[in-house]
Amino acid sequence: MSCAHSSSETEAWRLRQTPQGKLVPGDLELTQRTLSAPAKDEVLVEVCWLSVDPYMRTRMQSSGYDYLNRDGMGKWTSGSYLSAWGLGRVLEVGSEVGDKVASGDWVVGHLPVARHGLVRFSSERGALPPLVFGAQQTAPVDWLHARGMTGFTAWLAMCHYARPRASDTVLVTGGAGAVGSLAVQWALTSGARVLASAGSSAGREWLSSLGVTGVLDHGSPEVFAEQLRQLAPGGLDLHMEQLGGATFASAIDAVRSHGRVVLCGLVSQYNEAEPRRAPPNLQRLVSVGARLQPFVVPGHEAEHWGRFQQQAASPPASAFAAPLEVIDGLESWAEALCGLLVSGNRRGPGKRVIQLQAFNPVDVQRRR
Ligand SMILES: NC(=O)c1ccc[n+]([C@@H]2O[C@H](COP(=O)([O-])OP(=O)(O)OC[C@H]3O[C@@H](n4cnc5c(N)ncnc54)[C@H](OP(=O)(O)O)[C@@H]3O)[C@@H](O)[C@H]2O)c1
Repeated sequence: MSCAHSSSETEAWRLRQTPQGKLVPGDLELTQRTLSAPAKDEVLVEVCWLSVDPYMRTRMQSSGYDYLNRDGMGKWTSGSYLSAWGLGRVLEVGSEVGDKVASGDWVVGHLPVARHGLVRFSSERGALPPLVFGAQQTAPVDWLHARGMTGFTAWLAMCHYARPRASDTVLVTGGAGAVGSLAVQWALTSGARVLASAGSSAGREWLSSLGVTGVLDHGSPEVFAEQLRQLAPGGLDLHMEQLGGATFASAIDAVRSHGRVVLCGLVSQYNEAEPRRAPPNLQRLVSVGARLQPFVVPGHEAEHWGRFQQQAASPPASAFAAPLEVIDGLESWAEALCGLLVSGNRRGPGKRVIQLQAFNPVDVQRRR
């Protein structure tokens, strides 16, 4: 399909109906979407890679989680076309952005979940404008993980908010996932005693290979609670929560007097009909005088993105393991997103991404 003219069709994913509880592939549909020529502040891209993220399910919740209120990034309701952090090749450039980007360049930013789409170059309310990389560069896929939004999330959690000390016992739940895998490695650099959990044996083996002190199985709440008692008999100084539910409650029980909790996410709750229910023992954090720090990435970019980039590009972070779990084809999107919300469903550790196509540089020349 060609897209480089005034208006054309492309394949795009949209929400068919707002899910009630568990998201299933039938809640999403791949349809034809009409694309117009890029406006003066837009570029037309051929989408090459897309990140698949748990927060996407929260954008479908009628009860809220509408923290992403920027243009095109708010709540998804029936008929909404989906977007994702991704990597694309520029095919056409709007009249006012020719000084920033050229045909053939790579663009990283919020892209449509589609084969082709329009990307706006004006940044709104402190959001990052799309990142541009030269046409001759090999696909900068690092920017989908360690250098991109998952890397930024892990850095905000561990380096900005949690700041582990060498004397700390630290727990990271969901340690083999995208954010967790990097957060664990940041925690290890502090010299702390680091514990981490995964729902699959492959994830737990991978965490062991990083050199963590102890690995827990969050697939079973009872097993997790017992392992936590054994591995942290004196309690936790610092806990990074990513799952919610029973494992969060066990971690709260283990937090020491004046301990710290960084609340990054609650993925086990996103498919629940009542996702905002707090753990029943939340009061314990008050009793022990713990500090609870929830955070969300939007709003941190203007102040912190530059420092994150400096640190991500330098040792020790430049040597962090940052595996990608690559799934082929735009048509795999619905299965890939639904599967992300189920424990033990990953083929490997790290970041789940969809590869739409290996882009041929000769093709880029032809499209100019
Ligand atoms: N605060 C923010 O701004 C921000 C930004 C990005 C992400 N987050 C949050 O951070 C968390 C991790 O995100 P991510 O990008 O690293 O996602 P991810 O790569 O999918 O990792 C999440 C891990 O959670 C586990 N999991 C998935 N569904 C589960 C369920 N139903 N019950 C228990 N465990 C489950 C999976 O591990 P196993 O397969 O090993 O069980 C998965 O590897 C999520 O809660 C996400 O919402 C927050």
